[in-house]
Amino acid sequence: MMRNRSLQPWCVLLSLGRKLSLRKLLILTLGLAVLSLLYMSGFTKPVPKMKRMLTPRNFCARSNRSKISPPDDLKTWGPKNHYSAHILLFAKTASSSKLLKDFLGALRLKYKISTSGKNLPDLIKLSRGGVGKYFVIVFEDIRDYYFMDKWNRGILEKYCNQFNAGIIGFVPSGLEKVENDPMLDPVNNFTSPFTMSSHNILGPVKVSNHSMLRILKGYIEMDPMYARSSWVRFTNLREDIEPVVFSRFKSSDGSEYTDPIVIYEPEIKDKIRKVIIGGSDALQFWLIKVLFLDALLYLSNQQLVIPLTRYVLVDIDDIFVGSARLTKPDVTALVESQSRLEEHIKGFKYNLGFSGSYFLAGNREEDEGDEELILQRDEFWWFPHMWKHIQPHRFNNLSDLTSRMELNKNFAAEKNLPVEGQYSVAPHHSGVYPVHQQLYSAWKQVWNIQVTSTEEYPNLKPARRRRGFIHSGIAVLPRQTCGLYTKNLFYDDYPGGPDKLESSIEGGELFQTFLTNPISIFMTHMPNYCCDRTAPYTFETVANFISCYTNLDLRTLPPTQLAEKYFNLFPEEKTAVWGNPCIDKRHLEILSDNRTCNKLPNFLIIGPQKSGTTALHSFLNMHPNLVSSASSPETFEEVQFFNVKNYNRGLDWYTDFFPDRNTSVFLFEKSATYFDGEFVPLRAHRLLPDANIVAILLPPEKRAYSWYQHIRAHSDPTAINHSFKEVILAGPGAENSSLTLYYLSVWTKTNSKKEEMRIPKIIKNFSDLNYFRAKQLHIIDGEEMRSSPVAVLNRLQHFLEIPFYDYKDKLVFDEKKGFYCQVLEGKKKCLGKGKGRLYPKMDPETETWLLNYYKPHNDHLRALLQKLGFPLPRWLVDKDSRSP
Ligand code: A3P
Repeated sequence: MMRNRSLQPWCVLLSLGRKLSLRKLLILTLGLAVLSLLYMSGFTKPVPKMKRMLTPRNFCARSNRSKISPPDDLKTWGPKNHYSAHILLFAKTASSSKLLKDFLGALRLKYKISTSGKNLPDLIKLSRGGVGKYFVIVFEDIRDYYFMDKWNRGILEKYCNQFNAGIIGFVPSGLEKVENDPMLDPVNNFTSPFTMSSHNILGPVKVSNHSMLRILKGYIEMDPMYARSSWVRFTNLREDIEPVVFSRFKSSDGSEYTDPIVIYEPEIKDKIRKVIIGGSDALQFWLIKVLFLDALLYLSNQQLVIPLTRYVLVDIDDIFVGSARLTKPDVTALVESQSRLEEHIKGFKYNLGFSGSYFLAGNREEDEGDEELILQRDEFWWFPHMWKHIQPHRFNNLSDLTSRMELNKNFAAEKNLPVEGQYSVAPHHSGVYPVHQQLYSAWKQVWNIQVTSTEEYPNLKPARRRRGFIHSGIAVLPRQTCGLYTKNLFYDDYPGGPDKLESSIEGGELFQTFLTNPISIFMTHMPNYCCDRTAPYTFETVANFISCYTNLDLRTLPPTQLAEKYFNLFPEEKTAVWGNPCIDKRHLEILSDNRTCNKLPNFLIIGPQKSGTTALHSFLNMHPNLVSSASSPETFEEVQFFNVKNYNRGLDWYTDFFPDRNTSVFLFEKSATYFDGEFVPLRAHRLLPDANIVAILLPPEKRAYSWYQHIRAHSDPTAINHSFKEVILAGPGAENSSLTLYYLSVWTKTNSKKEEMRIPKIIKNFSDLNYFRAKQLHIIDGEEMRSSPVAVLNRLQHFLEIPFYDYKDKLVFDEKKGFYCQVLEGKKKCLGKGKGRLYPKMDPETETWLLNYYKPHNDHLRALLQKLGFPLPRWLVDKDSRSP
């Protein structure tokens, strides 16, 4: 195809040249060059297109402006009694009520699920003098209560009456369409105190001023924007029933009527207070969620406290970073937005995270914006981001990291920025979690940082499970997302449409973050505050929504005070539970190059002590495909990571004990103290969910005697001054009775309080549904380990699915030692004198006493092992062989 030559650029220039004089052509060329220079220098860089400016919405027109006073502070969150499960939830099936379970989980409220139609679970905790376990009973389908068989219903009623517990019940929306239908149970001769009509489309909603309302304001009205269909309305209420929430409905002929969708039944007929909600998906409507919380407090007699106070911090990361920057008017708007927000959030300040390296890196208007930020510096709180916005995990050298931080610190000093919060945030959460120790050290060294926040712990999703922890003296608080990310410059371009953002504000995810978290640190970025200023709009609108419809009392505090409040409320979160960074894509992206995923053990030998763990460890080390952890200077062949002290040292400390494994090698670790470590199963499982667990079980009386001999050899005064028999037979009244249990407690060497930690419980903890699956656990008979280690090792290799190593000629029995020893380079090598000690046999009277003592525990252990499908250790096979 022929191209039209006259359209080509050089042809245009040539023909122009022919028409214009040389002087004019020169002027034209010069002009073009200046223009393009200006363009390249950014002077004419296109500023993001201005769309309409956003005005925050006001919801108060239809609401009750009054606040209940005085607002509480965050003293407690959740139940006053920490032992109970709080809520008993009757679900249709084990997997139903997802909405409800997620909501309770987000609120950190404990619940016990009982499947409707099955036997009632235990309602009373006998061990604590008969306290009630549940404050409130929730029915996914209230008919399961109304139609409950007489016997169970009698028990439940008695419980509710005795402990003053109330019921919340939902009427399922998916019922066959009914009109003014009562619930009838002919067997129990029961008729519900209302009739109901299903499949209603919700109209405008009105809340009464019921005395149960606390977080939700009374006398408010609103249009439920995002949860309209399939509601059940109540009609023909018995005279004592109190309507709480109404809606206006339209009938098919166009007429309108108002009926309640939430009702309260006082304790008149069956003496149980009930809140009944018309619709199984009702919790999708934010108002019902808030009401549900109020009902929990009301029906639990103020036991399940969800306070009114909420602390909020809004971080603006990336100050001075990137191409969408603030102009001077944007900075003025930011100050104005801050003072408007202060009307709703006491003490509100935007918290600005700066990277000084990019100061004045924009076009002229943006540089004016930077200068204005510095002029207005005292209006805001400031915190250091990274100097050049580089992810800290990329620095493996502490001094490189600190020198970068110093540059940002010098910048702050030069510009006189009020950086007082002892708070910092790392770009992309890098280095905070998974922990990059250098970041913590550099933060401490340069800025004396006390607090940071991340959305990565334990994982980004689900957001409702984000938690905090403290590491190396720095409190890490959970960080929340408000739905805005770096690229969200304009409201109209919001991904999924502005409606998505609005629904998040109007009772959706953003509102719920405020509702379910006592302290929320929100992440936003500088670009969210330029352009049409979507972030100020979002926060001002949600704050207005919260103030107009709820009594939540919003406040801001500096980060260090927030951290103090957070860990006062949730002290159990202080110690992190380290997860495996290699099984989370986002964690993997921010993992230092120095860390590999190949330095974690494939299996753990968990003990207990004195059962033959050293022999097993040494024998496994002979296997060419197995490598154990390096020796610890403090605890020798045991790393003892999952126990308290070392666990706080962090994951890098642990993995440094292991070599970088190649594919044919299996790594393992033996720490006999893992067996009875309270948190070990949880921690080991979080880090090594696919690992195998190996335990050795010796007859308990033999282990007790071995332990006695062990501490005697270590000059324990009681063991030196008293025979084993004396110690064992000392009754509860005897002088050294506490020591009796000290020795008896064969699976713990600590104290009598741990009596409960019997082997079955421990095994259950490791293997049952709690953490590891039973098929990940392997149990070795401790007596067989002594008498036939080769057979034990063969079975273990099979279980671990590792290449077979023939131990037949590698382990030989040594008459003098009385145990099997290794053959290494043709020489026999027995374990040291502390393993396989020489001591007299246990005297028969003590043995008989112990056999009796342990009989019930052994029976329990046998039953459990059989239930879990483990082969029984020979010494446990015959019921009577363990009897005297
Ligand atoms: P005793 O010294 O009381 O006989 P652990 O290593 O877990 O502390 O266990 C020590 C026990 O391992 C010893 O207790 C011993 O009975 C047992 N054991 C099993 N096989 C052994 C072996 N081949 N050599 C030495 N001790 C062995």
